[in-house]
Amino acid sequence: MNDGRAEQIQRDGPGVSAPLRDPRGEGLPEPVIRTACHDDLDALIALEHAAFATDRAERRAIRHAIRSPSMDVLAALLEAPNGDLGPVLVGAAVLERRRGSRIARLASIAVAPNRGGLGIGGRLLDAAEARARAHGCDRLRLEVRADNGAGIRLYERRGYTRFAVRPAYYEDGMEAWRYERGL
Ligand SMILES: CC(C)(COP(=O)(O)OP(=O)(O)OC[C@H]1O[C@@H](n2cnc3c(N)ncnc32)[C@H](O)[C@@H]1OP(=O)(O)O)[C@@H](O)C(=O)NCCC(=O)NCCS
Repeated sequence: MNDGRAEQIQRDGPGVSAPLRDPRGEGLPEPVIRTACHDDLDALIALEHAAFATDRAERRAIRHAIRSPSMDVLAALLEAPNGDLGPVLVGAAVLERRRGSRIARLASIAVAPNRGGLGIGGRLLDAAEARARAHGCDRLRLEVRADNGAGIRLYERRGYTRFAVRPAYYEDGMEAWRYERGL
């Protein structure tokens, strides 16, 4: 059964959509975070297209990540407002490890644009860090586009520090800022 159905997620501009804050301020949604499986593939691809304008992972790469013993794909699911539709995949993170290294890499993190700003990215990052620790890693590294305000804010608020810059890292020539944090 596919409980990671792709949501109707539309990009609404070249960047990240406006965050949808809970207008009542009554607490934020609690996503369930679990390891993704093959049945989540379509929803993960829809998310990739909704969340990223460039450098999207292809279906093959996502399928490989799901199967790879050195990678963890985490899926964040929320109950759809209409409960009988079942949970909807609203975010994902990909963690990568290398044999013999205690440094894990956050290869990707994404939240559906219409669910941005609700803390789901933070929850996914917590889960990725916990998973890296469980694998015996003591450090997490990642790259982020220098113009990705939401990503940079997420990482810096959580104690990540910039340790390097990689010029022309992305398809469109944008540089990457490399961040890391001890776990
Ligand atoms: C980066 C991303 C994963 C953050 O997910 P999220 O669920 O919105 O994150 P959170 O709600 O946990 O918020 C994280 C921080 O970013 C801020 N933020 C969220 N959306 C924002 C936006 N559009 N612009 C600026 N800041 C934003 C939040 O206010 C929060 O900061 P705070 O803790 O000071 O309030 C999400 O924006 C995303 O998927 N972006 C597109 C894909 C991407 O760029 N991935 C990162 C690649 S390295």
